[in-house]
Amino acid sequence: LTGTISLARYGKWALIVGGSEGVGAEIARAFAADGLNCLLIARRPEPLDRLAEELRAAAGVEVRALALDIGDEGAAAHIVQMADGLEIGALVCNAGAGLVPTPFCQLAPDVIQRAIRTNAEVPAMLARQFGQGMAARGRGAMLFIGSGAGEVGTAYMAGYSAAKAFQRTLAEALWYELKPAGVDVLALVLGITLTPQLGRMGYPIGDPSVPGMHPAEAACAGLAHLADGPVLHLGEAVDEHRMARTLPRRDAVTAMGERARAILSRSSAGTGSQA
Ligand SMILES: NC(=O)c1ccc[n+]([C@@H]2O[C@H](COP(=O)([O-])OP(=O)(O)OC[C@H]3O[C@@H](n4cnc5c(N)ncnc54)[C@H](OP(=O)(O)O)[C@@H]3O)[C@@H](O)[C@H]2O)c1
Repeated sequence: LTGTISLARYGKWALIVGGSEGVGAEIARAFAADGLNCLLIARRPEPLDRLAEELRAAAGVEVRALALDIGDEGAAAHIVQMADGLEIGALVCNAGAGLVPTPFCQLAPDVIQRAIRTNAEVPAMLARQFGQGMAARGRGAMLFIGSGAGEVGTAYMAGYSAAKAFQRTLAEALWYELKPAGVDVLALVLGITLTPQLGRMGYPIGDPSVPGMHPAEAACAGLAHLADGPVLHLGEAVDEHRMARTLPRRDAVTAMGERARAILSRSSAGTGSQA
């Protein structure tokens, strides 16, 4: 997947949070193909176990799988415990919240807390934990999967947008801090990506006429540019990034808000299922 660049240089194990389907599964396949053992985290055990079996059979690597909702309190500590004794050379934070736009003040507090934990708190705590070992060994990689909604405050997905902005700026800062220690950090900011998760939210991922990138393309670009941090924008996120840089902030926020409002009025939603 990554061509001539071998991921083996990062260490013995890859920890992939959100590593059972879509972009996360493609990233796991690439690490396993380059000989890294994989620790996979996702909520539903069946897709997780299926991918674990596939990687063991195809690549002959060791795979451990943990079914865990990282929106739950204590999730980061649980992952750290599961990784005890493993040399985590690569950390991938792929699990993210859904995108059904909902007015922020109508959301239950728990939905907001979960979006923040999933997209911001858990990535930060795992980066701190596993970054220590990577820096001490003088090698390692962190890959954070972001969204164009993190480039500009996006109405009707305010919690998700803010948490993704946190994750991107965290990645940028860590890129600078950890570069001298030999650790690569990249925020991979995606546009529409045709993942099973997006399909479950009603987007017609099988329709060839709709825009969107294949999960393997997104994974491939991110892994190929792991050493070219701090940020790589893909698809629509390229435009959102440009908009954030070039438009007056008020105009950028209005444009994102109008787009989200159009989706909100089309969906039967307002259900609060952002996380
Ligand atoms: N798809 C897009 O168009 C798009 C656009 C911009 C940004 N992104 C970002 O790209 C990333 C991946 O995209 P995606 O979610 O569409 O599809 P994906 O690559 O298929 O990733 C979802 C993975 O994360 C797991 N996951 C989701 N929530 C979790 C939780 N709370 N705890 C543990 N594991 C969890 C899923 O398994 P389970 O469901 O079994 O837990 C699955 O393995 C996300 O961070 C998303 O915000 C996506």
